[in-house]
Amino acid sequence: MSLFSRILLSPPRCASARRLRAAVAGKTVLITGASFGIGEATSHLLADAGATVILVARTKDRLGELVEQIRGRGGRAFAYPGDLYHADQMRDLATRIQAAHPRIDVVISNAGKSIRRRIADALGRNDVERSLAVNFSSPAALIMAFLPRMLEQGGGQIINVSTVSARQPGAPRWSAYQGSKAGFDVWLRSIACELRPRKIFISSIYMPLVRTRMIAPSGIYDRIPALTPLEAAQVIARAAVKPADRIAPWWLWWCELAMLCFGTLVNRMLTALDHRRNH
Ligand SMILES: NC(=O)c1ccc[n+]([C@@H]2O[C@H](COP(=O)([O-])OP(=O)(O)OC[C@H]3O[C@@H](n4cnc5c(N)ncnc54)[C@H](OP(=O)(O)O)[C@@H]3O)[C@@H](O)[C@H]2O)c1
Repeated sequence: MSLFSRILLSPPRCASARRLRAAVAGKTVLITGASFGIGEATSHLLADAGATVILVARTKDRLGELVEQIRGRGGRAFAYPGDLYHADQMRDLATRIQAAHPRIDVVISNAGKSIRRRIADALGRNDVERSLAVNFSSPAALIMAFLPRMLEQGGGQIINVSTVSARQPGAPRWSAYQGSKAGFDVWLRSIACELRPRKIFISSIYMPLVRTRMIAPSGIYDRIPALTPLEAAQVIARAAVKPADRIAPWWLWWCELAMLCFGTLVNRMLTALDHRRNH
């Protein structure tokens, strides 16, 4: 990615191996959605910096390969396959993880499901149910399962990989994704206020576009600049090094401000654009 796009797009990142090692070496970090994309890159980055990584996703073989690669380089990694569609499975998984690992220092809630579909085409489908399960209720169940341990050990950190769209106007075709990501974001920001005094810090990352398999199917992003998975992992690393409530590209504040001032106009423009694309 060019320097121009990087400055334009990227939230603050940590590219210093030394600073990352100082922050995470010896810690146990759980990463959901570790099998591909941002989660995979983050798993490598944190494991190479000396963290013990606990990898959660559905694709068992892929997690197995990742564990082998990390251990092959002298790191510590453990695979726990599971499906976030089933909150009960996540609670069982959390019990097994905590039985095997006495401390969980950081939970990175990264797994996500993206569906881009018009509401007229979604009728009779389970888009809302599935998105809410994977992007909201199961990550929330997983976090609640780890909270007692974090409180008991005197602190911890939760890093949520959200999206810039969670802070932007409702966009046509993104209802299930945007609604579920925004809902989880608000839930986390709400519990953050209660947990901060107990030394559990929550960082919400509003990630811009990242070139992963998630954005590949729609094709509309092919010519738009995007971060690489490694750059996105470095944004997560920054949250681990310097726990901030909010990590976002600089321009997101301006979008939010513009929405406050011109919300109706922006909504009308989006409606017109979508209508033109469709007719
Ligand atoms: N790519 C972007 O432009 C972008 C922008 C903003 C935010 N984000 C967010 O970044 C996060 C990572 O996305 P990505 O771009 O790296 O996408 P990705 O390459 O498709 O990876 C998604 C990860 O989530 C896991 N996952 C999906 N459904 C799951 C389920 N039901 N149970 C357990 N794990 C599940 C996948 O693993 P399995 O398939 O093996 O289960 C995979 O490891 C998501 O939360 C996404 O919303 C992405």
